[in-house]
Amino acid sequence: MMPSSSETITAAASGTWKLGDLTVNRLGFGSMRLAQDGTAFADGTSSDRNRALRVLRRAVELGVNHIDTAAFYFSPLRSANELINSALAPYADDLVITTKVGPGRDPSGAWVWATPEQLRGQVEENLRQLGRDHLDVVNLRLAVSQASAPVAELFGALAELREAGLVRHLGISNTTPEQLTEARGIAPVVCVQNAYGLDSPADHHAFLRACGEQGIAFVPFFAIAGTGRERGAGTEQDDATLTVARNHGATPAQVRLAWTLHQGPHVLAIPGTGNPDHLVENVAAGALRLTAEDLALLAR
Ligand SMILES: NC(=O)c1ccc[n+]([C@@H]2O[C@H](COP(=O)([O-])OP(=O)(O)OC[C@H]3O[C@@H](n4cnc5c(N)ncnc54)[C@H](OP(=O)(O)O)[C@@H]3O)[C@@H](O)[C@H]2O)c1
Repeated sequence: MMPSSSETITAAASGTWKLGDLTVNRLGFGSMRLAQDGTAFADGTSSDRNRALRVLRRAVELGVNHIDTAAFYFSPLRSANELINSALAPYADDLVITTKVGPGRDPSGAWVWATPEQLRGQVEENLRQLGRDHLDVVNLRLAVSQASAPVAELFGALAELREAGLVRHLGISNTTPEQLTEARGIAPVVCVQNAYGLDSPADHHAFLRACGEQGIAFVPFFAIAGTGRERGAGTEQDDATLTVARNHGATPAQVRLAWTLHQGPHVLAIPGTGNPDHLVENVAAGALRLTAEDLALLAR
């Protein structure tokens, strides 16, 4: 059962994992939903600034010490990195900010993809916006069109920035097992960030397990949104999720998050929300312990 609502559950209830030498609570926060209301990247609906700042400060109060972001998370009036800087700097020593490079957006919001030479500029853009002199973790985010492309040149460019001290640790996102192997031949990889959740196909589960066997964190995105992806979470849930949620006095979103954390100690959650109530629920999901029966029901 979920602990009673009078208890404040913190992210510490989810346990910890080490990204390289950086220890984080497994239940973290994704900032993609902070800059706009509703659908991510659907420009025109900049979020309420004070609400977004409140969500970030509350996340840290609730023990969240792993925040995922990107310089390309912006709407006409808001930037996730600027909000993080304004809400949280000077940063707590234990706060780990993970960002991603590869994709970029020009001032009009149109997408561009960095060449290896342009990755340094993207890293520096994150440094400026976050107000840091080094980045804790940087993911190389690959495009769908790069699904079977070699990653040596791009990852090699990031490895050089790591050697130069601009980046502490590297990860890879939207990637395949083959690309992970290639990247690991160039520099240590501390995390894989891929779309993953209850409705993922078998090969995604196998990749998650393989990351665990290699001591690499697996960090799912769209764990709540599922097939809604950038559009966000839908209202329809399958019967198994509803049943498990009811049995635990939890919400379907909490069950979906908890289920990812049950896939291995190396799985980290980065639920995205601009809603203060959802934030509290998501942190509390780190305390939700699913039974073998629950997991069997959800597996169907
Ligand atoms: N590497 C990549 O390519 C990549 C791609 C996408 C995302 N990401 C990262 O992963 C993070 C997670 O992805 P995401 O934000 O798209 O998806 P998500 O965490 O799976 O779900 C977010 C959606 O669920 C809703 N939601 C959140 N908590 C809820 C709750 N307790 N109850 C009901 N609805 C809830 C949100 O709306 P409300 O705002 O209304 O709560 C939003 O629509 C992002 O924030 C981003 O940092 C990375």
